[in-house]
Amino acid sequence: MAHTPRRLDSYSALAEHSIRLITGLQTPEGAYPASPTFSAYVGYSWLRDGAFIADAASIAGAPDSATAFFQWCANTIARRRDTIMRIVAEAAAGRPVAASDMLPARFTFAGEDGVDEWWDFQLDGYGTWIWALAAHLERHGLPADRFVDAVGITVDYLVASWQRPCYDWWEEHSQHVHISTLACVEAGLRAASVAGLISGERRAAADDAARAIAEFITERGVADGHLVKWVGSTAVDGSLAAALAPLGVIDARSAVGRRTIEVLESHLAVTGGVHRYLGDTFFGGGQWPLLSCFLGLAHLAAGDRDRAEELFAWSAATATDTGDMPEQVGEHLIAPGMRQEWIDKWGPVATPLLWSHAMFLRLGVELGAIDPAALTVAAYAATAPGQGGAR
Ligand code: BGC
Repeated sequence: MAHTPRRLDSYSALAEHSIRLITGLQTPEGAYPASPTFSAYVGYSWLRDGAFIADAASIAGAPDSATAFFQWCANTIARRRDTIMRIVAEAAAGRPVAASDMLPARFTFAGEDGVDEWWDFQLDGYGTWIWALAAHLERHGLPADRFVDAVGITVDYLVASWQRPCYDWWEEHSQHVHISTLACVEAGLRAASVAGLISGERRAAADDAARAIAEFITERGVADGHLVKWVGSTAVDGSLAAALAPLGVIDARSAVGRRTIEVLESHLAVTGGVHRYLGDTFFGGGQWPLLSCFLGLAHLAAGDRDRAEELFAWSAATATDTGDMPEQVGEHLIAPGMRQEWIDKWGPVATPLLWSHAMFLRLGVELGAIDPAALTVAAYAATAPGQGGAR
């Protein structure tokens, strides 16, 4: 491990540990490993996890680390230009390519497709990386030039593909169109346009698609006044909090925003721990600290600071004695009988999960519980070639 185990007794210590984990584990190529030790994730970086990790690094005192990740995304996507052009052309000709020929959700650190079978066709990360990048450039007043090309072809890919069913945030249910996936795509398209990362016809197409997605969400992504897991469902999913904050696709104070929070609370939150969805069986279907933080961000955006603080405190308390935050905790399982099956298959729950640490940082900074100026980052590849990225 790249970090020194120690006891953590305050938010600032956990925050410091979190940013050091994130920057210390970043690879020389700029990728963020999802988890350094978990068997099924070792060696891979996801656009979804990575975008939110970079977003946290950007606000938590490690902007160079975030830039290095976005550069990795840009390089990884740019080398798939021909594939993207073919996907876009075939879609325009009314012959959409097979789901298995769409772009993957995760890549090796060198930016290659994985060699293991995976539930790869997921659109959300292609929107989220643009959203996080645009916010990062704006926040730190950085030049956009070197990202323009990769953002442009990502936008083409999303404009041509957003209506397709694909795997969701949890890499499941590929037959459905997922509302949180659409929120990520809409956020990415809007951010590309507003930040001036695209222009001309491409920008007009992105604006049209973003508007169409917003209408689609309103018409087909809402039931009983709240956002739903997928089109046709009446259930919620913990990932929907992200549509309110930090993505801001749905106003957290609107009727739909408030009702979505209310239903997420009543269906998925038990004390401060948030389940992914009812019916989850992955590792028994425990509570995910990163989802507590997303729900906390949504509450904060809706004006309920007290509840946001409770959720934040709950997420912090999931850290182990050495300060590592897990993907999920098993205190309140939806399907207890399924836990051992996953442990037998893949080993214990992914710990640390960098995305969990990232969301703890993100909510902590927004709450003012973490002071970014007080954090020191680990040496990482962007500034110290060959010295960061202990893998
Ligand atoms: C989760 C994904 C996540 C991946 C890597 C999967 O088990 O369902 O949301 O991107 O792990 O952390």
